[in-house]
Amino acid sequence: MRPTVIAGNWKMHHGPAATREFFHDFSPELSDPPPTVVIFPPAISLSAAVESRRGRPEVALGVQNIHWEASGAFTGEHSAGMAVAAGARFALIGHSERRHVFGETDEEVGRKITAALGEGLTPVVCVGETLEERQAGRVDEVILRQLDAAIHPLPEGAPRFFLAYEPVWAIGTGETATPDDAAATHATLRGRLNQAFGPERADEVPILYGGSVKPSNVTELLAASDVDGVLVGGASLDAPSFAAIAEAG
Ligand code: PGA
Repeated sequence: MRPTVIAGNWKMHHGPAATREFFHDFSPELSDPPPTVVIFPPAISLSAAVESRRGRPEVALGVQNIHWEASGAFTGEHSAGMAVAAGARFALIGHSERRHVFGETDEEVGRKITAALGEGLTPVVCVGETLEERQAGRVDEVILRQLDAAIHPLPEGAPRFFLAYEPVWAIGTGETATPDDAAATHATLRGRLNQAFGPERADEVPILYGGSVKPSNVTELLAASDVDGVLVGGASLDAPSFAAIAEAG
């Protein structure tokens, strides 16, 4: 059985003080069994998150990006090993803002996944089409290309990674894919995972939906088939709002 995953991507919001405040106010009443709750603060706030989450083992932490090298002259970057040492268990990889704002390529995404797995960090690999690609009827082509590039370098054995489908046109826009659209795309992704890993191992990979998820739409999205969780941006910044989403999981 795959866990339900409720993940919050804070992007470039919440420094250390705001992070402490968030955890002070964040006390969801989780269902039983509880969902996997993961928060991705800015890396500079990770140690504040680790401290203020003490005694709250139900909230895991992650980083929003890593470099594929272990160390070196890469100003502004941090490695997977450093993220683990600082308290991260997960890493977002290939978020659309990394791809479209910072020019990250499919190949770099693949290298980052290998680096994350090598350090025991669980990658949350993001794929998704732009509005232009959607209008051109290229959704499957784009997401499968991104997925293939991501899983191509994976070693043999059970894939310890999560996948997130985030249509770029739904991120931060208030527009959400309908539950039916999300279910159809997730089925396409799961089909490819089956081909690549066989149904048993593919079955272990949770596929999250992301793009304008909020307390008012999370329940119907989680009810869609093959939607195993959500990756939440804006609505994860406010503790009561993210608690309401976590409680739906
Ligand atoms: P959003 O962002 O929920 O603000 O649309 C989602 C994401 O980018 O992960």
